[in-house]
Amino acid sequence: MRKVSIGGAAVLLALATLQPAQAQNAANGERLASQWCSNCHADANRGSDTVPTFQGIANRQGRDAEYLRSFLTNPHPPMPPFQIGRSDIEDLVAFIVRLRQR
Ligand code: HEC
Repeated sequence: MRKVSIGGAAVLLALATLQPAQAQNAANGERLASQWCSNCHADANRGSDTVPTFQGIANRQGRDAEYLRSFLTNPHPPMPPFQIGRSDIEDLVAFIVRLRQR
């Protein structure tokens, strides 16, 4: 059982109010993010000076699902050139947009 961060708790809260399919996407996105992305982006609430947390990204102006989808389809430096499958992108986007604090 991994430690549940404050961000994780917020995600769980958000998930409780979603349709099952969407909740599943976001949960899978969180799993993918912790496998592939957390080396750099860390947990929802732990950033570094050079790489924002996913929550920080979600709170940026204009980072809606459409923006994130196109960014992840073709990530550009300083992000590594990931090749992410379409359904994995959808799941990652579902995870990231739910971290937005508004
Ligand atoms: C090698 C380190 C590294 C890894 C691994 C990494 N990223 Fe990033 N990512 C970065 C850096 C550096 C930035 C640019 C920081 C900024 O925009 O201020 C960034 C930016 C982003 C942005 C914001 C783009 C924007 O314009 O606001 C998103 C979304 C993102 N990464 C998603 C991901 C996802 C999803 C994964 C896993 C599939 C991932 N990253 C893995 C380093 C990384």
